[in-house]
Amino acid sequence: MLKEVIATRYITPLREGGSLPGLVEADDFGTYVLKFTGAGQGRKTLVAEVVCGELARRLGFRVPRLATVELDPVLGLGEPEQQVQELLRSSGGTNLGMDFLSGALGFDPLAFTVSPEEAGRIVWFDALVNNVDRSWRNPNLLMWHGELWLIDHGATMIWHHNWPGAAAFAARPYDASDHALHSFAPDVAAAAAALAPLVTEELLAEVTAEIPDAWLTGEPGLDTPDDLRRAYAHELFARAAVIHERIEGVK
Ligand SMILES: Nc1ncnc2c1ncn2[C@@H]1O[C@H](COP(=O)(O)OP(=O)(O)OP(=O)(O)O)[C@@H](O)[C@H]1O
Ligand SMILES: [Mg+2]
Repeated sequence: MLKEVIATRYITPLREGGSLPGLVEADDFGTYVLKFTGAGQGRKTLVAEVVCGELARRLGFRVPRLATVELDPVLGLGEPEQQVQELLRSSGGTNLGMDFLSGALGFDPLAFTVSPEEAGRIVWFDALVNNVDRSWRNPNLLMWHGELWLIDHGATMIWHHNWPGAAAFAARPYDASDHALHSFAPDVAAAAAALAPLVTEELLAEVTAEIPDAWLTGEPGLDTPDDLRRAYAHELFARAAVIHERIEGVK
């Protein structure tokens, strides 16, 4: 289970994020980056964050710790900005929080070096979950205490927007030519050999169990939250074994 906290104070919006994530304080005295259920991209973005974040963590990547954050829309009343107020008002209930890495720098491929091994692992993982949001324009990688951290997995697993076509979609290749780590000679073959065997049905069941039930509703043909969890696990399991053969744009 993800840690559960209650938001006690809205601090400020994070301007860089397209979905207007905010910084909040919670009842455990932690500071969290909050992704709102009421944001335009909807609950599927939050599901993707949980599935990818928790899978990545179990595969040995550095990912900020995730938590569910209960939000009382009353917190928005004092907000001067209408956009923020509306976001808070429409996001009552369970939202997603991640540990705020204070002082982290956005990754710049021209300013930092990444080994072919680490680059390969990240490219392979992004191919597995079909992450289209790790380009050099918008790397969604942070440097914190001298190490690389993965953030922002909201734009992944595009097949979850159309479950009847999911199998066909998941079989498509992954184009890595635009990837933020493309220039670091990513050793995808080594990454696949090390990581693919770890992506077992047991591991995926553990990962998908972390998704809050509240976000797993309203999907025709997948009537219970567990049906949906199995659907997520199924596509990733099938993809893990073969995706390295379908990564395009890296040597
Ligand atoms: N855990 C974190 N610790 C520190 N800073 C963070 C964290 N998460 C996000 N940020 C900062 O906030 C920005 C926006 O976050 P994120 O990329 O997750 O939001 P988004 O709305 O999905 O963005 P995008 O515009 O890429 O779709 C990041 O680029 C980063 O600068
Ligand atoms: Mg981002």
